[in-house]
Amino acid sequence: MTEAVYPVPQDWAERARVDRAEYERLYRESVDDPDGFWLARARERLDWIAEPTTAGDWSFDEADFRVRWFADGKLNAAYNCVDRHLKERGHETAIIWEPDEPSEEPRRISYRELHAEVCRFANVLARLGVAKGDRVTIYMPMIPEAAFAVLACARLGAIHSVVFGGFSADALAGRIEDCGSKIVVTADEGRRGGKRIPLKRTVDQAAEKAPSLQTVLVVQATGADVPMGPRDRWYHQELLQADDDCVPAEMDAEDPLFILYTSGSTGKPKGVLHTTAGYLLWASYTHALCFDYRPGDVFWCAADIGWVTGHSYILYGPLANGATTLMYEGLPNWPDASRIWQVVDRHQVHTLFTAPTALRALMKEGDEPVLATSRKSLRLLGTVGEPINPEAWRWYHEVAGEGRCPIVDTWWQTETGGAMIAPLPGATDLKPGSATKPLPGVRPVLVDEHGRELEGEASGNLCIAASWPGQMRTVWGDHERFFQTYFTTYPGMYFTGDGCRRDADGYYWITGRVDDVINVSGHRLGTAEVESALVLHAQVAEAAVVGMPHDVKGQGIYAYVTLNADASPSEELHGELRAWVRREIGPIATLDALQFAPALPKTRSGKIMRRILRKIAEGDTGGLGDTSTLADPAVVDDLVANRVRA
Ligand code: WT7
Repeated sequence: MTEAVYPVPQDWAERARVDRAEYERLYRESVDDPDGFWLARARERLDWIAEPTTAGDWSFDEADFRVRWFADGKLNAAYNCVDRHLKERGHETAIIWEPDEPSEEPRRISYRELHAEVCRFANVLARLGVAKGDRVTIYMPMIPEAAFAVLACARLGAIHSVVFGGFSADALAGRIEDCGSKIVVTADEGRRGGKRIPLKRTVDQAAEKAPSLQTVLVVQATGADVPMGPRDRWYHQELLQADDDCVPAEMDAEDPLFILYTSGSTGKPKGVLHTTAGYLLWASYTHALCFDYRPGDVFWCAADIGWVTGHSYILYGPLANGATTLMYEGLPNWPDASRIWQVVDRHQVHTLFTAPTALRALMKEGDEPVLATSRKSLRLLGTVGEPINPEAWRWYHEVAGEGRCPIVDTWWQTETGGAMIAPLPGATDLKPGSATKPLPGVRPVLVDEHGRELEGEASGNLCIAASWPGQMRTVWGDHERFFQTYFTTYPGMYFTGDGCRRDADGYYWITGRVDDVINVSGHRLGTAEVESALVLHAQVAEAAVVGMPHDVKGQGIYAYVTLNADASPSEELHGELRAWVRREIGPIATLDALQFAPALPKTRSGKIMRRILRKIAEGDTGGLGDTSTLADPAVVDDLVANRVRA
């Protein structure tokens, strides 16, 4: 089989700061002298109150396990994203905000305006009692105030925890309680695809289950009539007393910057903690390198700030680099499938960075909505979140990008802070479906199930052999879980949870998660999380959840549910359980298939055999493999006979 290879286009070879030889040189330098390499990057990319004299201080071994970078440096992340740009580009646009409703006017916020907004927001928070080290939960729609709130926390040295606006009251309450936030920043309502999202109402419901919560700061976004109680404060009223200036807090490099909750293979989401200097450097470095960012380029990362992609590539990376970043309130395909390209034309977007699931959804609508737009401003296209199928890759490249824009497929995770394996547009020939090669400073390793390192062309489990500045530092409140989750499967290495193939050219091809995590529309969901939600229902005795192939979402959710003896399967119960899980977790957790199962396949020791459940969900009922270790092999026949099609 011959693989298609797309060489670096001529214009990119000429424009890009990093060409093939320079990539090779940087990579070698980063491996030969990591500390020198990172100290140089840290000094050139960030403004310091006190420059660091040391770079990495880390060990992945149990005995002296630690991850620290630039430990004696002092800085402020908001200063780096805002203040330091004032002199040279104070009047240039920092944020372009595109509203959900296409007939409304966009907003353009200059660096100078951003500075004033962030200072005022920080002063409001400070007056409400927020101090260095406090946790602030941000549950916001995609409006500029969300960006102000995030940067205001960074300015004060408070730790933000952004919770995606699509999460349920229960999910929000769990995240507020886990990190002990006393304050939530929210809006009356959000808007997405013409729909209203009752954020304040959801916070009120969450508050009942989150006793740590004392204050709710409400931004007026839609003007909806929302009840305001004793703990609630309107942002616009608090603003009346807020000063325009706020001194950025002096932070240690290793002071926490934010917590972001993400699903793992056990029930409870983990609070991934990132610290100030290492994370900010990683966001800035990868944004500059992967997208070859140049002043004047309009950069659009079409994610939500509730995910790490939004943190690193709507806010911290582009703003640290003085870029113009586009923040879009709505959905790529609303009011119609042309919208994403109309936004590109309206704001003359240079780089578009989105997820394969969005591309697959758009592709389904045919080429017309794309061809109805110009897209002449586009020079670079990026993807993130899941493996991109070559068909979607080619459509993105040929139809959306008219064959002229390289596709930067970035592999990374919430835990890594930013891109790790990705092509550089001026240096790397592309192969559709491969995230290509590691960035300088990243040392991927493939290991077999015994932890033996595999050389050359191979398939195995993807680990990272050495720390990098953007690495997460701990799981909030559970350092032991951090170590256990990532460093015990293959001792001495960070284990990503992904399977991966390396081809003869040293290109990496991510094959997907090898743990009990599924990737639904580029969002991570733990199967255990969905199972816990299901068994909370009074009529459910037991549940097992696995991923199944889905042509738009990448993976869909397949649930096997065993009911209590006094309950029986029905259409109503089916609908009720779907609604139940959505209410417990959020609409991301919409079951794509639900099969009522009289029993689940278990080993004699009572362990559910997920391998079999996965095969049935995939429709691969011919290859179930060895079922002889099951306590009752007949269970499988019933499951196969009653398999549900999504
Ligand atoms: C998991 C991380 C990265 C930010 C958004 C998701 C999968 C991510 C790719 C890619 C193949 C990818 C992996 C990874 N993934 N990007 N380009 N190619 N797989 O962050 O929620 O932390 O999920 O997403 O399985 O482990 P996340």
